[in-house]
Amino acid sequence: MKESSIKNEYKKKIKLLHKYNKAYFDENKSLITDQEFDILKKNVLELEKKYSFLKHKNSPSKVLGFKPSKNFKKVKHRVPMLSLNNAFNEKDLLNFEKKIINFLSLSKSEEIEYSAEPKIDGISTSLIYNNGRFIQGLSRGDGKEGEDITENLKTIKDIPKIIKVKNFPTEIDIRGEVFIQNNDFKNISEKFANPRNAASGSLRQKDPKVTSEIPLKFIAYTYGYANNINIDYQSDFLKNLKYWGFKTNQFNSIIKGVHNLALNHKNLEKKRKEINFDIDGIVYKVNNFDLQKRLGFAANAPRWAIAHKFSANNSVSEILNIEIQVGRTGALTPVAKIKPVNIGGVKVSNATLHNEDEILRKDIRVGDTVTVERAGDVIPHVISVDLKKRKKDSQKFVFPKNCPSCGSLTVKDYNETTKKKDAVRRCSSDAYACEKIAIEKIKHFVSKEAFNIDGLGKKIVENFFKIKLIKLPQDVFNLNYEKIKNFEGWGKLSVSNLKYSIDNKKNISLDKFIYSLGIRHIGLENAKLLAKHLKFSDNFFKLSSTKNMSELSNIDGIGEMQVQSLKNFFSNKINLNILVELKKILKIRGVVSINQTSILKNKTFMLTGKLKGISRAEAKSIIEQNSGKIISNVNKKLDYLIIGEKPTMKKINRANELKISVITQSEWLKMLNKTS
Ligand code: IVH
Repeated sequence: MKESSIKNEYKKKIKLLHKYNKAYFDENKSLITDQEFDILKKNVLELEKKYSFLKHKNSPSKVLGFKPSKNFKKVKHRVPMLSLNNAFNEKDLLNFEKKIINFLSLSKSEEIEYSAEPKIDGISTSLIYNNGRFIQGLSRGDGKEGEDITENLKTIKDIPKIIKVKNFPTEIDIRGEVFIQNNDFKNISEKFANPRNAASGSLRQKDPKVTSEIPLKFIAYTYGYANNINIDYQSDFLKNLKYWGFKTNQFNSIIKGVHNLALNHKNLEKKRKEINFDIDGIVYKVNNFDLQKRLGFAANAPRWAIAHKFSANNSVSEILNIEIQVGRTGALTPVAKIKPVNIGGVKVSNATLHNEDEILRKDIRVGDTVTVERAGDVIPHVISVDLKKRKKDSQKFVFPKNCPSCGSLTVKDYNETTKKKDAVRRCSSDAYACEKIAIEKIKHFVSKEAFNIDGLGKKIVENFFKIKLIKLPQDVFNLNYEKIKNFEGWGKLSVSNLKYSIDNKKNISLDKFIYSLGIRHIGLENAKLLAKHLKFSDNFFKLSSTKNMSELSNIDGIGEMQVQSLKNFFSNKINLNILVELKKILKIRGVVSINQTSILKNKTFMLTGKLKGISRAEAKSIIEQNSGKIISNVNKKLDYLIIGEKPTMKKINRANELKISVITQSEWLKMLNKTS
């Protein structure tokens, strides 16, 4: 056969393969059987082997069907998969331990024992076992709901499919990390930015066969739901994992004392390059499960664990320009546009310069050669300037005094706590009066953690704002779909999908609703605290007419700053109008407490004096877990005054006057069926 006809034949086959692949991955259609596909693929590979002149970018030797599928079934985790707070230095660790000691009311000299486990930078996964059989495997997803990737996980050798060991719980979710080793990654490195992407891409293949072609590994480290588990320490749990047939990390250790944690961190960081997989830090977990239970969770992360990150990756680049971005709260953030560089497998072309003061302090200028750092998911930032490389004609950067979006004057707030002016300069216009602030506020309103509206991405919000389709949050729910249908890039189907996802989100929980409003200093965690306290949306709306909002600062975690910010929010007419409009459109779900007993239902408590072996924060959390309420004044609404050591006599006398039950710590514990 002539070379040209061989080439033609080869090209035809590649074209066919590409067509089948596309139908399979993009449209979920099988145009031929699996066997036929395999034969065709084999044919192409054999041709390439025989004729070295054959080459094509779509050859199966180059591409596997690596496009992730969107079609996995969503499944709710029986126990949510949470994230971890981060520590970057010894100070953060000391702070972490201090909080634990305070919460548990331990003596300051107490040394907590930790299970220290290298944090593998992979994909966390939950494996459900029923009577020793691996029945379902889920990705983390948003932590509450994951994707059913069972068949792909089954291809991983490290995951036991049947466990016959006696003490293996009858029902358990084993959790751990799926990852790819660095030596295996080398073979496919041209297709993925880094090993983590490779693991993720491979796990989300529609065809488990494709997954099986990449040597994925699994290391186990914790569990979600479990019954019949009788283990007291994390380190014992890790031993059991090994005994049950799971791989665990060879560098796991038990450590006491923050100083020793820091030492171990330093040692492992040095060894990091020798280890055959990527680790981005060390996870410390309070080793004792009883203490873990008492410490519980705050927002999305446990109080009993923290991830101590390794220092970041750096690269050198050049600043091409400095742009000023206006954020949701009016903050002006300078961003350096840099010559694109690859830092730890990710292409970086923007680096934040934080604020005006930072630029002044480091004297950062356009044209400078700078070192840029990227640590984990944190936005890359400029850490230093190489003054030796500075050009002679370079000029100091002048920070604008007016908002680049609306021209209003910019100001620096005075911070009551630090008694200093803020480092951040802000646009002084009212929210929504400044175009950039309004756009950012609406982006926040529809974002994942708020209304989570699929199909209203950042670019679309910007476009809809430009053509005045959306000006205020409520406009999201009154879109002119007939108009959108005629826009370029929008068809009937995409418009009806958008309408469907927007209509679907009219029912929202109170915490997400509060968060969506983008009130300064009210992030996810504070929104949750407020919602828990206020219980129903009407109580939130009523805040606009409540003079005495300072009652809110009694909520553990809400301070003066947050209360002031709520006051500001509720004193703004545009905000009040937005609330009126949203109230008409939405159905806002109140807070129902889950996993609670109702032993203390409708009972109110107040504490005075120091309790034995338990901090105020923990006492409060126990009362709330049992449906009781803490109040901060001795008044008629109070049912019980709990007295500890050195109580305030005034409070006891007042309680006696009002015939309120004054009880001791052990009487209180008896109410909970606990003894001290
Ligand atoms: S425990 C509630 N242990 O870190 C605690 N996580 O930011 C749940 N990770 O999504 C996690 N190694 O992917 C735990 N030994 C380890 C870990 C580990 C890596 C990852 C995991 C999780 C993330 C938390």
